[in-house]
Amino acid sequence: MEEKIIIFDTTLRDGEQVPGCQLNTVEKIQVAQALEELGVDVIEAGFPISSPGDFNSVVEISKAITNPVICALTRAVKKDIEVAAEALQYAKKKRIHTGIGVSPYHIEFKIKTTPEEIIRRASDAVRYARKFVDDVEFYAEDAGRADNEYLAKVIEAVIEAGATVVNIPDTTGYCLPTDYGEKIRFLKNNVPNIDKAVISTHCHNDLGMATANTVMGVLNGARQVEVTMNGVGERAGNTSLEEVVMTLKSHKHLGLSTGINSQLIYRTSRLVSTLMNMPVQPNKAIVGRNAFAHSSGIHQDGVLKKRENYEIIDPVEVGVKESSIILTARSGRAALNHRLELLGYKFEKEELDEIYHRFLKLADKKKVINDEDIKILTGEVFQGEKALRLELLQVACGKSSVPVATVGLKINGEVHTSTATGNGPIDAAFTAVKQLINKTVHLEEFLIQAITRGSDDMGKVHVQVEHNEKTYYGFSANTDIVTASVEAFIDAIAKIK
Ligand code: KIV
Ligand code: ZN
Repeated sequence: MEEKIIIFDTTLRDGEQVPGCQLNTVEKIQVAQALEELGVDVIEAGFPISSPGDFNSVVEISKAITNPVICALTRAVKKDIEVAAEALQYAKKKRIHTGIGVSPYHIEFKIKTTPEEIIRRASDAVRYARKFVDDVEFYAEDAGRADNEYLAKVIEAVIEAGATVVNIPDTTGYCLPTDYGEKIRFLKNNVPNIDKAVISTHCHNDLGMATANTVMGVLNGARQVEVTMNGVGERAGNTSLEEVVMTLKSHKHLGLSTGINSQLIYRTSRLVSTLMNMPVQPNKAIVGRNAFAHSSGIHQDGVLKKRENYEIIDPVEVGVKESSIILTARSGRAALNHRLELLGYKFEKEELDEIYHRFLKLADKKKVINDEDIKILTGEVFQGEKALRLELLQVACGKSSVPVATVGLKINGEVHTSTATGNGPIDAAFTAVKQLINKTVHLEEFLIQAITRGSDDMGKVHVQVEHNEKTYYGFSANTDIVTASVEAFIDAIAKIK
């Protein structure tokens, strides 16, 4: 039986503290709904006393969300707790998250009090919060740098006062994974009433160890993890949701699972990145642009032989359609040939050698070789190799007439024609093409751009079609945009294997 790890998402509270990444209430609701769909258990919606905007966001998120617990942050201050309780009034499931600093730095230089006084204030805050809600989480701020014996006393006292979850933040991202793991184990073994509460991790990434620390916390007894999407958060950020979820999923032998629908990870990551105006670094684990991209020849060859040779996660598992092979000067023949096949070309060895030679020359000048470059490379050597080619296109359209198109396609050397009507000449021509190919394709995206400004200039057309849950891209340029559109459509279809 797998044990469940509770996913507490604080993208909308700790994550949103990043300068320049503030969201308005509507955007926060959008993120909260995406997190609910993703399957998070707890959403920390804000710090209600901090501003009327934050208060309002907690109210509106509480109304909009059904399944996850909605959590509001407070200091260990009565007024904060009252305001948080008010903001949570519409939440179906609610939690107050209160706490205070427990490290020597915080006690002496920030709060300027004594360790005993901290324990009293912590317990009072939890007791007071329990008057409003049944679910109270206590955070021992800067627990990462706190003395473990003292931390155990604080935790025992707050559980005694009614805390249901005890959060052990490595607020400054200081801990080594082994030290953080030991801290959690110490609390498990030395706090007499620890079984009455769930231990939570909350790690920051100042030394790049937030995920490692979180995982060590879980391996030593924590059962809730506090995370943000894309690892956004103060300074170097918080532990990233996707990294923890996929670590537990990839290491099944740990016997730990989450309620996250991992196939929605990529989509949620993009939403958060777009709304927060915070680009995801290309090499970010799981959700970075390069997370499933291979550019060295040896890796490309290995991935093409068997994806698992160089990938521990199937990109589909996190909602990325497929791994990508980036063609650069370091790519080998296998990768080039694979891309040529996807583009609908088939070449004998000598022909391939010749194209590869041209490819390397171009790749020395240009960092990444795209499909259009490849078509030019092949076009220079071979014409007419494609299995699918537009031979004829006639359209009739205009005001008060039904648009009609006749298309002639050369399929494996033989020309076939078909006529169809549509809501415009392009729609009619696409329908005629579809009648000629025995495949079901859905047009996902269609983009026409003028290359320059005059009416006699070239139009560039990009299309994206879907067939059996895979996406294929097509391109063409022509002074006649209907022809360019049909050619681009056929170009995409020709890549379907
Ligand atoms: O990092 C931290 O200590 C926090 C607490 C407020 C939970 O974000
Ligand atoms: Zn934090």
